[in-house]
Amino acid sequence: MTTDTLLPPACASRAIDDKALDQLFRAARSHNGWLERPVPEALLRQAVDLAKMGPTSVNTLPMRVVFVKSAQAKARLKPALAPGNIEKTMTAPVTAIVGYDLGFPDLLPKLFPHVNARAWFAGNEALIVDTARRNGSLQGAYFILALRAIGLDVGPISGFDPAKVDAARPLATTIAPTTGRVLILVWSMLTIKSCCVQQVYPNQRLHQRFVDQPR
Ligand SMILES: Cc1cc2nc3c(=O)[nH]c(=O)nc-3n(C[C@H](O)[C@H](O)[C@H](O)COP(=O)(O)O)c2cc1C
Repeated sequence: MTTDTLLPPACASRAIDDKALDQLFRAARSHNGWLERPVPEALLRQAVDLAKMGPTSVNTLPMRVVFVKSAQAKARLKPALAPGNIEKTMTAPVTAIVGYDLGFPDLLPKLFPHVNARAWFAGNEALIVDTARRNGSLQGAYFILALRAIGLDVGPISGFDPAKVDAARPLATTIAPTTGRVLILVWSMLTIKSCCVQQVYPNQRLHQRFVDQPR
């Protein structure tokens, strides 16, 4: 079933083609090996600029990213990693630490200026953490798709000790230069690869029903 049979013509012409759908979804995999080719910083910035256009509640935009490239910085990450994630992280061209900023309410007067949204979060730490985790994770997903869209491959990992990464202060403080608070929790890391060799694990997607039929 293709969208051109489901949508009015004006909308069908906006659909991206099968090649793009393959690149973003069907053929996209979580990679564990790569070519020894540097990933230009301009591409990383482009991916972040695309990812930040995805929607977040109250335009909170809590995701913060640190790119780790040098052997010295990678060595500081190593003790935090699960054994199975060490080699691919140490040798990847770029590792992105994807975290969320619990100081996001302080930016709301700028990001969502038409109401006093900062007041909604004042003194409500549970709401701040819940909002940051949900929307930071959404932004992480947008970021994965943005990286794929511009031709890069990624391998997400959450097999690491976030507290150890969080404790690496010189890394963490660079995540949130715009806020006074440095309460960063890391939720995932991505190894980013320049057009990777196929080193992926066998897998399948279950074809279970994820939504009920309309009633
Ligand atoms: C948030 C997140 C955390 C993950 N953590 C790890 C990890 O720690 N180590 C690893 O080898 N793969 C990790 N993966 C990769 C998944 O296992 C992989 O995406 C899944 O098996 C589907 O495979 P595919 O993306 O190749 O289709 C993670 C993926 C996501 C999205």
